Amino acid sequence: MSVQELYAPIADDIAAVDVVIRQRLHSEVVLIRQVAEYIINSGGKRLRPALVLYAARAMGYSGTAHHELAAVVEFIHTATLLHDDVVDESDLRRGAQTANAMFGNAASVLVGDFLYSRAFQMMVKVGDMRIMEVLADATNTIAEGEVLQLLNCHDADVSVDDYLRVIRYKTAKLFEAAARLGGILGGASREVEDRLGAFGMHLGTAFQLIDDVLDYSGAEVSTGKHLGDDLAEGKPTLPLIHVMQHGSAAQADVVRRAIETGGRDAFAQVHQTIVETGALEATRAFARREAQMAIDALALIPASNFKDRLLELSDFAVARDR
Ligand code: IPE
Ligand code: IPE
Ligand code: MG
Ligand code: MG
Repeated sequence: MSVQELYAPIADDIAAVDVVIRQRLHSEVVLIRQVAEYIINSGGKRLRPALVLYAARAMGYSGTAHHELAAVVEFIHTATLLHDDVVDESDLRRGAQTANAMFGNAASVLVGDFLYSRAFQMMVKVGDMRIMEVLADATNTIAEGEVLQLLNCHDADVSVDDYLRVIRYKTAKLFEAAARLGGILGGASREVEDRLGAFGMHLGTAFQLIDDVLDYSGAEVSTGKHLGDDLAEGKPTLPLIHVMQHGSAAQADVVRRAIETGGRDAFAQVHQTIVETGALEATRAFARREAQMAIDALALIPASNFKDRLLELSDFAVARDR
């Protein structure tokens, strides 16, 4: 299923969010407008805003604050991408040059800070203490996740639990926050908000697991990113951990050395060990289990067309090729 099909029932909401995004990007500082518009208009999937919108609608929300909060979540996401591409030294995203490749590292980092702080201005205007708490916690946890990941780079002894902690923090936490926001707007009880949060957390975990699969197997025309960026950074993602745990001593050694050295030279050799040990299938199976846990977390949410779309989002997170 394409992203457009997934969003069909909320097409008007998505359009309204894009209007908010464009309005709130405004700054008197030309370079901020250039960089921010460059990345925001480059065609992201808008998955996290969709999660806010669907969760709010599934809880019966009928106001307009969900547009503002969906834009807030997309700004936070965009800020993390600006920073992430500097840290990962990536030069391709969304099928185009990254902002750091185009405008330099300094501009990317500083405009990322602008987007974070603009997001906080917007959420303060919404004026709900629980919403501010959820977003402040999420943003803080994402930063912890990125720093934890930095510490894990070039470390071939990272465990599955260490890896899971990183992806829960750096990626799943914002999905969790997005789903919680919908619940809070819809007046959900704390219990229901927590169920929505669990949905988002498992969905985001599945999403990042597949991202890590696509880093070894995706088509650049679909993902819009270079293959092999993770290996180049010496990131011990689940496909590599799988080879080290289940491969022969020789296969494990190939991967261990590649993690420790980084770079792209060993990509073909590492890719072969991944294929031989079924590491991508094992990672996909892990993602499917997370997606099922996401689906199970929604059991308490009343049936609706919007809830069905949330369930489809969890299928998309696993089946996606972009
Ligand atoms: C990329 O997220 C960063 C990860 C958490 C893997 P998306 O794949 O949602 O990025 P865009 O916004 O659609 O480009
Ligand atoms: C996700 O990790 C980054 C953030 C959550 C900011 P990746 O480094 O795998 O994301 P991509 O692959 O660059 O989009
Ligand atoms: Mg990256
Ligand atoms: Mg990635």
